[in-house]
Amino acid sequence: MNHLVAPSILASDFGNLQRDIEMLNRSEADWIHFDVMDGMFVPNISFGFPVLDVVKKHAKKPIDVHLMIENPDRYLEQFAKGGASNITVHYEACTHLNRTVNAIRDLGCKAGVALNPHTPVELLEDILEYIDLVLIMSVNPGFGGQKFIPNTYKKIKALKKMSGELNPGLFIEIDGGVDESNAKLLLDAGANVLVAGNSVFSAPDQMAAIRNLKIAG
Ligand code: DX5
Ligand code: ZN
Repeated sequence: MNHLVAPSILASDFGNLQRDIEMLNRSEADWIHFDVMDGMFVPNISFGFPVLDVVKKHAKKPIDVHLMIENPDRYLEQFAKGGASNITVHYEACTHLNRTVNAIRDLGCKAGVALNPHTPVELLEDILEYIDLVLIMSVNPGFGGQKFIPNTYKKIKALKKMSGELNPGLFIEIDGGVDESNAKLLLDAGANVLVAGNSVFSAPDQMAAIRNLKIAG
């Protein structure tokens, strides 16, 4: 499968959110990545439902919701009704992960599980066949614009191998510090979705930055 690019609107200009979403509509971006932070699971608060309403109103592409929140089960339905196509929860935030991913699928969304940089992909062995997507954090979640952590490559390779047996259609999404310098290496390792915040929105030509991630690999 051709890889996908999911710009993260955490790095967009919130004063011009409609303009930035319209840029994403015109660009080669595949998904719009939407980072929700609760100030508990991560040491930062980002945005929630009122902002999702604005994104949904203008976006012509699927919204890829990444929940960096404790006890995400409380809000799955509201995110699905609010327009999420994919809902990704953190492995570290879910006590009954099988129940949570089933609930996401029952709501008609793709179900994703995210891993912090210290969480081994091997822990996913008994959930992999029930999900659509794994998001490997390549920075510690909570902030955009951080430096990429290189142990990501070996995690992607190990996950790619596991998914070959258990879930060949799995989306393997990489989030944090992704840019033109590491995109090809990530894709070669087995990633097929690249999230990019800062490297897209701080570029002088944002559409070109998205295109360059699309043609990487
Ligand atoms: C970090 C978020 C990321 C963030 C990526 O906690 O999950 O999606 O927006 O931003 P960059 O690409 O700037 O590292
Ligand atoms: Zn994210």
